[in-house]
Amino acid sequence: MTQVGEAAGPWAVDRTVDDEGVVEVRGLSKSFGTVRAVDDLSFRVLPGRVTGFLGPNGAGKTTTLRMLLGLVRPTAGSATIGGRLYQDLQRPQRVVGAALEAASFHPGRTARDHLRVYAPQVAVPDTRCDEVLALVGLDQVAHRRVGGFSLGMRQRLGLATTLLGDPRVLVLDEPANGLDPEGIRWLRDLLRHLAREGRTVLVSSHVLSEVQQTVDDVVIIARGRLVHASPLSGLAALTRTGVRVASPDADALRRLADEVWAGRWREVPGRPGALEVDDVDAPAVGRVAFAAGVELHELTPTVVGLEDVFLRLTGTVTA
Ligand SMILES: Nc1ncnc2c1ncn2[C@@H]1O[C@H](COP(=O)(O)OP(=O)(O)OP(=O)(O)O)[C@@H](O)[C@H]1O
Ligand SMILES: [Mg+2]
Repeated sequence: MTQVGEAAGPWAVDRTVDDEGVVEVRGLSKSFGTVRAVDDLSFRVLPGRVTGFLGPNGAGKTTTLRMLLGLVRPTAGSATIGGRLYQDLQRPQRVVGAALEAASFHPGRTARDHLRVYAPQVAVPDTRCDEVLALVGLDQVAHRRVGGFSLGMRQRLGLATTLLGDPRVLVLDEPANGLDPEGIRWLRDLLRHLAREGRTVLVSSHVLSEVQQTVDDVVIIARGRLVHASPLSGLAALTRTGVRVASPDADALRRLADEVWAGRWREVPGRPGALEVDDVDAPAVGRVAFAAGVELHELTPTVVGLEDVFLRLTGTVTA
């Protein structure tokens, strides 16, 4: 159960949020003709946390988010917010704020006017427009025409639009696109702040490094299917340091590896006599090989970092 602070908005007064901010995807599938864009996908997204929804280009992220928002009808399964389908929500803009792609803005309108067009639809007063402009750091340029905004400023304005209704769930599709390092850092701080207020923050990206310092949880998909879901620490646990070792006597090296590092080594594809050994350091491998009289021609420390784990899980690299 997540306690929601007063700052979280009018809906949070004297209330604890339990399942209401939970996003639940169950057996979700979507086919476009013969393309299976989303394939039997199931995962949960919890309030009070930032969840990274990750996968390479074409993995099915946007399609999943569109189904969650009732914009695309699933072929099978469901995606709910607080147990309800989006189309069954009473006041959807108050519950979910979504920014699916770089929104189109009327270039002649100022940032403030852009928001004022949306405010009545979300049933919030005009004063809320200035609040969200300040929240995304656009208060100084509120009077400027959007046509002259940079990509990063447009992203901020899109986020401001998303926040208008003070929603408890935020769904952001690739919000870091087009942001410079300072902008990415600003986005990280804002998303973490929104999650601390008890909101559910679901943010997609095709690059792990872009959101690595922002997210608490990760949901990773590839070719429409779930490949990994855990707290970020669960992904970090899959990182490895090891050693690449090569000998002109391939048989002797393999025998030694079986004896000393059973279950922790594999052959380097296409390189006879070369092995990768996990969870050891180079001196340890050198010592063992020397003691066994196995000649070595290579002894290289290797690191399987977070990004490598991500690429392996999503099948972007197969090594
Ligand atoms: N309206 C559509 N009609 C036909 N195919 C579609 C449609 N929308 C998506 N697809 C296909 O579904 C697959 C998943 O696309 P989707 O946009 O969901 O991926 P994504 O993970 O968001 O990728 P990206 O990182 O490039 O944004 C792709 O093969 C895409 O071509
Ligand atoms: Mg997409």
